[in-house]
Amino acid sequence: MIKIAVLVSGSGSNLQALIDANLSGQIAGVISNKPEAYALERAQKAGIQTALIEHKQYPNREAFDDAMHQQLLDWDVDLVVLAGFMRILSAKFVKAWEGKMVNIHPSLLPCYKGMHTHQRVLNTGDTLHGCTVHYVTAELDAGQALAQGVLKVNPHDNAETLANRVHVLEHVIYPQVVEWICTGAIQHTARGVDYRGQPLQAPVQFCKL
Ligand code: GAR
Repeated sequence: MIKIAVLVSGSGSNLQALIDANLSGQIAGVISNKPEAYALERAQKAGIQTALIEHKQYPNREAFDDAMHQQLLDWDVDLVVLAGFMRILSAKFVKAWEGKMVNIHPSLLPCYKGMHTHQRVLNTGDTLHGCTVHYVTAELDAGQALAQGVLKVNPHDNAETLANRVHVLEHVIYPQVVEWICTGAIQHTARGVDYRGQPLQAPVQFCKL
């Protein structure tokens, strides 16, 4: 059975969706870089072990990442799932977990990498928005996309309503992708990403239009 670690910094609603999904893999542990993250409580309520690794306690990014890496090795983790983890990871850490680490980002990548995605979508006047699950590579929000949730931007939407609506989609696509990885339906191979034995060119899309 695949052992999963979930890395969090905040509320952890995506962590909750993963817990509730009863995955084929086992969530072996949850790491937070913030003591106040509600995600820690969610993990504890579900009986999942937690580690608080505060980035502030480390002299630099590499030292912080080394501490996380060691924790992941101690838990014997196969897959790292970033769920609202708001730290940029060092190239060394990303390399160590290449093909074994996924992230969810609140935009239709490759559009709107980085922060404040909902407001930027509104500022541009886009009519479609959503979220993307992707493999993590050294370049921010740029790894192979595995699945996207797509929704229509309504005329009355603001950044908050969009964030809430995107969250609903995140809670559908993230457990689904993690389950596909757990069952081997998605595989990271030397020639790229295979989806059910076929090369995955474009992300699988879930639309709520
Ligand atoms: C989610 O919307 C996720 O897409 C976003 O943080 C939120 C975490 O919510 N992640 C990023 O912006 C990463 N660049 P949660 O703590 O309730 O799961």
